[in-house]
Amino acid sequence: MSSNKKKIGIVGSGLIGRSFAMLFAGANYNVVIYDVDQNQIKNALADIKQQLKMLEENGLLRGKLNAQQQFALIKGVNSLEEVVKNAYLVQECVPENLETKKKAWRDIDALAGSNTIYSSSTSAFVPSLFTKDLKHRQNVIVSHPINPPYYAPLIEIIPAPWTDPEIVKKTRTIMTEIGQTPVTFSKEIVGFAINRLQYALLNEVWHLVTEGILNVEDIDKVMSDGLGMRYAFLGPLETTHLNAEGFVNYCERYADTMHSVSEDFKPPPAKYDEHKVKEIARQLEAMVPLDKLQERRNWRDLCLAKLSLLKKEMQEEWK
Ligand code: NAI
Repeated sequence: MSSNKKKIGIVGSGLIGRSFAMLFAGANYNVVIYDVDQNQIKNALADIKQQLKMLEENGLLRGKLNAQQQFALIKGVNSLEEVVKNAYLVQECVPENLETKKKAWRDIDALAGSNTIYSSSTSAFVPSLFTKDLKHRQNVIVSHPINPPYYAPLIEIIPAPWTDPEIVKKTRTIMTEIGQTPVTFSKEIVGFAINRLQYALLNEVWHLVTEGILNVEDIDKVMSDGLGMRYAFLGPLETTHLNAEGFVNYCERYADTMHSVSEDFKPPPAKYDEHKVKEIARQLEAMVPLDKLQERRNWRDLCLAKLSLLKKEMQEEWK
């Protein structure tokens, strides 16, 4: 099968750069990957080859090409120019440090053309923070994945105030094409949505655990065996819709309860108490020792892969 020929440039070959490379190759794009550290490119290519093989062996490989064909679409290069030149989309995946992002974007901008989508994986920086002075700033957008992107398909698409609406549309289209689930923000907001929701939860978890109300194992069960069971299939809003006779009825029934419980919430600590942090870490390490983190991550990825198959099957059922 021939590649669809469009070139995707990946800048930074760490965890997220590798994931994007695999996602784009799975959709038959030519992928060119660059890293300031040449050793990282070598490691990334070896890792990608192994991951694609493992996915194929387990029947989890995306797209229509086999693992070998997908791998053949990915090429490591040693200059940024080879990534940026004539790319349809450049996905920046350099470390989460504002100065590093600014420098990487200045370098990309100097080589950029006017028809390319320039997309950043940043988890925390709104795009205006690092694109304001770029010549091609109207082409830059944030496409923030959730880890691990191969199994958790959400992509948050966040334009800067000056991002061209056409770039927003094209980004959404290509992310859908590679099998991700894009959500488009009307404007930038700190923390985007994933981290706003995640931090709201972690804040409440912190209070419940440090006040001795629930231990670490039990608070995590509240999500993994409770709320998370639903949230794997329905969002919080549809959950409310189904838990009453529609959303209007839910608000009529539960507004007072929601208000009084919410009034009990506390602000996040300005600084995390060291002893409390150590105690939470102690309980977590009793569940998963530090030398077993990678094993547990592999298990998590397998769970998510199987869940994504179930979600697909259940979505078909609802159609
Ligand atoms: P990482 O640290 O695993 O990889 C970053 C890579 O970029 C390294 O290989 C480094 O050598 C390279 N690099 C540094 N400066 C560079 C430059 N100027 N040009 C080219 N390569 C350069 O980082 P990771 O985890 O892959 O994260 C990348 C981005 O994705 C960050 O902005 C991060 O916040 C975001 N992200 C990370 C997630 C995660 O769970 N790891 C999830 C979602 C987004």
